[in-house]
Amino acid sequence: MPEIKIFPDNELFNQAVVDRFIEQAALCIQARNVFTVALSGGSTPAQIYAALAEEPNRDRITWEKVHLFWGDERHVPPEDADSNYRMVREVLLEKVAIPPENVHRVLAELDVHQAADFYEAELRGFFEGKQPRFDLALLGMGEDGHTASLFPHSTGLNEERRWFIANQIPESGVWRLTLTYPAINAARLILVLVKGVGKADRLKDVLTGAYDPVAQPIQAIEPKKGQIVWMLDQAAAEGLQPTFRP
Ligand code: 6PG
Repeated sequence: MPEIKIFPDNELFNQAVVDRFIEQAALCIQARNVFTVALSGGSTPAQIYAALAEEPNRDRITWEKVHLFWGDERHVPPEDADSNYRMVREVLLEKVAIPPENVHRVLAELDVHQAADFYEAELRGFFEGKQPRFDLALLGMGEDGHTASLFPHSTGLNEERRWFIANQIPESGVWRLTLTYPAINAARLILVLVKGVGKADRLKDVLTGAYDPVAQPIQAIEPKKGQIVWMLDQAAAEGLQPTFRP
């Protein structure tokens, strides 16, 4: 059974995620002198990034040892309102002393396949050709069960070799850019952040229903040698049976 933590309110949820981020950063920097993070997009993590930029959280992190990557990105320029990079830049990057070379932006303004190839090369270069093992992967979950930009019935679900790809959302035809299952599942720690009553039914299906990762891609998120923790608020967790609650 995956590790599940349920928080009664937004403040406790956000601080718990921030504290786990800070703890993991300290452990990894002590062990390997670096902390690599794959950031999630969306609204849930934006509050986490903003909290990381505030005192006292900000000074509890050795930012020059932190390398930020994006778990997924929309196929838009960096100044676009939908850009996950822009969101992180506004709430975090402009407020902490992270060296610019430690911020590994997806060049999402390029042709989508070129952007994916460039980021694949960026990952292979940074991880020196070895399997990328992010020290922390932050993930969200959509109401359709997607995570990162691994959407239901999308071809990206079948990628077993590459770490980063262009992936088309079948319903809309919109192109996204995303880490693949091999890259995400190699992480040392995966935190899945799910909030809101709108996610409750899907979360119950994902955690207690039939295993169908083509329809519910987040079900195939399973760290090979790492740890996964589902960080939920009470609203999102309301569909979980008490026996399933920790
Ligand atoms: C993105 C995210 C996406 C997100 C989910 C949940 O680029 O939008 O990576 O996978 O995590 O859609 O988003 P919320 O946390 O905003 O509900």
